[in-house]
Amino acid sequence: MGLKIAFLGTGGIAQTHVSRLAKIDGVQVAGFCGTSLEKAERAAREIAGAKGYADFTQMLDEVKPDAVYITVPPMAHGEAELALIERGIPFLVEKPLGVENGLVQRLAAAIADKKLVTSVGYHWRYYEALAKARELLAESKPGMALGYWMGNMPMVPWWRNQEQSGGQFAEQTTHIVDMLRYLCGEVTEAYAAFAQRSMHEKVEGVTVADVGTVTLKLCNGMVATVSNTCLLPVGHTTGLDLYTDRGIMEIRSTGMKAIERERTTEYRNMKDPFQLENEAFIHAVRTGDTSGILSDYADSAKTHAVTMAANESAETGRAVTI
Ligand SMILES: NC(=O)c1ccc[n+]([C@@H]2O[C@H](COP(=O)([O-])OP(=O)(O)OC[C@H]3O[C@@H](n4cnc5c(N)ncnc54)[C@H](O)[C@@H]3O)[C@@H](O)[C@H]2O)c1
Repeated sequence: MGLKIAFLGTGGIAQTHVSRLAKIDGVQVAGFCGTSLEKAERAAREIAGAKGYADFTQMLDEVKPDAVYITVPPMAHGEAELALIERGIPFLVEKPLGVENGLVQRLAAAIADKKLVTSVGYHWRYYEALAKARELLAESKPGMALGYWMGNMPMVPWWRNQEQSGGQFAEQTTHIVDMLRYLCGEVTEAYAAFAQRSMHEKVEGVTVADVGTVTLKLCNGMVATVSNTCLLPVGHTTGLDLYTDRGIMEIRSTGMKAIERERTTEYRNMKDPFQLENEAFIHAVRTGDTSGILSDYADSAKTHAVTMAANESAETGRAVTI
């Protein structure tokens, strides 16, 4: 059966998904809607049979998509999800789910009521390293975790604005929080310290913190700290280290290193996680079988709640219970 897909948002990550969908048989990207008709038409020109729209409702009415990809910045969520829930149209939405918690939790409840197929762009879950880490965790007791997102500042204007992006921890480091939850279970408490050290002096309009560290307590008794910075001139460590009674697991986008007393084993990620994420979602839309989707809206809403608790803690100076 041929599937028609429409996109809200025409930026970098939209193109990532479009290129993966092109490799799946029987999928037609049929519409793009963005902040201007011109940009939507530019994106549509690249694909035979696609059309650009300035208005999301008009696109839904005309294209009648089988599924929609929501690839807009964090502050632009809400109306699109509500329209899709109302019409019962499955969607894949990029992380983070928004910039505050209330709306996201309301949307999660509405999606559950409708039993709508959703997927959220936590693509790290599709790395082979994560499957291997879960396997090793079944035979070991994790004690603590250290997570990192140490890099430079993405130069899209919305990213440096706290109200529009939610800040680095909610926008980027959410991948690390999500991995921690996926591997080790739920988080119960967050205590965060964030600061502005240099980016606000160098780039106009910076209201986000450029350094931060968050201490987390988990349901299973583990403790973790997840730190991030966007003031570096170069990319550095991005990933999660797990400390267990069998050794250390260093999880990165390239793979995983398992350090044990007798040996150190390196596992390389060979598959494209974005391809796997798209295939799992399209399969679910076609068949109703959602078992391949590793991150749906309900689950992602829990990751979102952790990052929002961290933001609240950084603002108030107090630990926040989740
Ligand atoms: N999974 C990942 O690893 C990953 C990677 C990159 C980006 N992302 C996420 O995807 C989202 C978009 O990022 P991007 O890099 O594509 O950004 P971008 O700035 O390149 O593109 C954003 C797009 O959204 C459109 N847009 C902005 N406000 C809108 C609104 N109110 N209504 C409709 N469209 C609007 C813009 O015109 C643009 O086309 C972000 O939340 C980001 O975190 C995820």
